[in-house]
Order: sequence, then C-alpha cells, then structure tokens
Amino acid sequence: MRKIFYHFLVLILFVLIMGCSEDNHPSELEMLETKCFTCHSRLIVCKNLDQGHEYWKNTVKRMVKKGMEIDPQSEMLIIDFLQGQGSDLSILCK
Ligand code: HEC
Repeated sequence: MRKIFYHFLVLILFVLIMGCSEDNHPSELEMLETKCFTCHSRLIVCKNLDQGHEYWKNTVKRMVKKGMEIDPQSEMLIIDFLQGQGSDLSILCK
C-alpha cells in the first residue's frame, strides 16, 4: 500500500515539474501575445508574415529599441518563428 503511495507522489512531482518548466519557456505564440501585441495590434504582424529573415531581424531589433524587453535567446526564437510562418498563421491571425 505504502509503495503505491510513493509511486503516486513521484507522479505528482513529475507533473508539477513539467508544468513549471513550461512556464519558464513560454512558447513563441505566448511571447507574441505578451511581448508584441501589448504594444500594437496583431494585424501589423499578420500582414507582414510573408517577409523573410532580414525583415524580421531588423523589425524585432527595432521593437527592442522602442522599449521591448526580451532576452537574446527569446529574440532569436521569435525571429525564427516569424520568418518561418509564410502568410499562414491561422491561430494568430483569424
Ligand atoms: C514598446 C512597444 C512595442 C513592442 C513591445 C513591439 N512593437 Fe512593433 N511597433 C511599435 C511601434 C510604435 C510601431 C510603429 C512604428 C514603426 O514601425 O517603427 C511598430 C511597428 C511594427 C511593425 C510594422 C513595421 C513595418 O515594417 O511597417 C511590425 C511588423 C512590428 N511592429 C512587429 C512587432 C513584433 C513581432 C513585436 C514582438 C517581437 C513587436 N512589434 C513589439 C511598438 C512596439
């Protein structure tokens, strides 16, 4: 009986740890919501989704100059994410 209890405890711990690590690494979509769309409409991003790497690198760097707070790793992730979307980001731009 006791053994089952410990197994259960380990499972709960595992779920908790997984849950927390997700919080530490917000997805690119979450970053867009919390970083970008707090300053301006998502439309401004949606209408530029067919742009390539150079455009997004320059644009994201310009947003940082305007006061966006983002760590360098997230910045890279978001540039990669945006340049890969083509004009098809239906969850975001419907
Ligand atoms: C501190 C406020 C702020 C944040 C945060 C911000 N922006 Fe902006 N953004 C602006 C302003 C102001 C403009 C319009 C002036 C300009 O284009 O320089 C703009 C314009 C843009 C444009 C249009 C540029 C063009 O070529 O016409 C795009 C695309 C854009 N932002 C994307 C983003 C993305 C992606 C993020 C998140 C990674 C973001 N912005 C975060 C303030 C912000």
